[in-house]
Amino acid sequence: MKFITVKSYEELSNKAADIIAAQVIVKPNCVLGLATGSSPVGAYKRLIEDNKNGKIDFSAVTTVNLDEYVGLDGSNDQSYRYFMNDNLFNHINIDKAKTFVPSGLAADLKAEGEAYDEMIKDFGGIDLQLLGIGVDGHIGFNEPDKYFTAATHEVKLDESTIKANARFFNNEDEVPKTAITMGMMSIMQAKKVLLVANGANKKEIVEKAFFGPIDPMVPASILQLHPDLTVIFSEN
Ligand code: GLP
Repeated sequence: MKFITVKSYEELSNKAADIIAAQVIVKPNCVLGLATGSSPVGAYKRLIEDNKNGKIDFSAVTTVNLDEYVGLDGSNDQSYRYFMNDNLFNHINIDKAKTFVPSGLAADLKAEGEAYDEMIKDFGGIDLQLLGIGVDGHIGFNEPDKYFTAATHEVKLDESTIKANARFFNNEDEVPKTAITMGMMSIMQAKKVLLVANGANKKEIVEKAFFGPIDPMVPASILQLHPDLTVIFSEN
């Protein structure tokens, strides 16, 4: 594991963007695993600039996102599909048909999960997976549990996650109670993993996840088993 501590969110965003840009430059038709949340937004902004300046070309890139709220349509501004369009895809030269987010509207979420994992396998897996981390240690929406879950699956969100994500909604009651998330298999099979964590409120969980035991109650701790993991942390 490469654990990089930086002094500001700007530095974190630039370092993360450098790594993602390098991936796209060396493999223009790569598969990027992407994340939502506030932590990756600065890196997405830098990548938009890089694309506008002609430094990187997304035309051959495929993206697979980690998760989506159950019941939210892509046109809902709280959905993760909307977030990705708004924070990245609408501003770069990517083919939207090659951007994938699991559907939270699927009638059969188990089948949707299986199809999502199968699709990732057919792409040849993920070249670079970008992750944030929840205050409870979740990655994607893999919440603390007795066991790690391998497949893309439906998940009941923790109270702490609902509270943390309520800031994006009008009130806590509007936050969906369930989501669909990529499981640990597709994440851990990614060739490279890049996790960005920002803010003093993430310090404790980051220490637990990367310097404590591997424990399904701290979902991100499984990443310690990944052969090519970079963590970038900024307390500010
Ligand atoms: C959400 C997402 C996660 C993300 C987490 C942290 O719950 N499902 O993928 O890592 O938020 O978000 P933030 O970066 O805003 O703290």
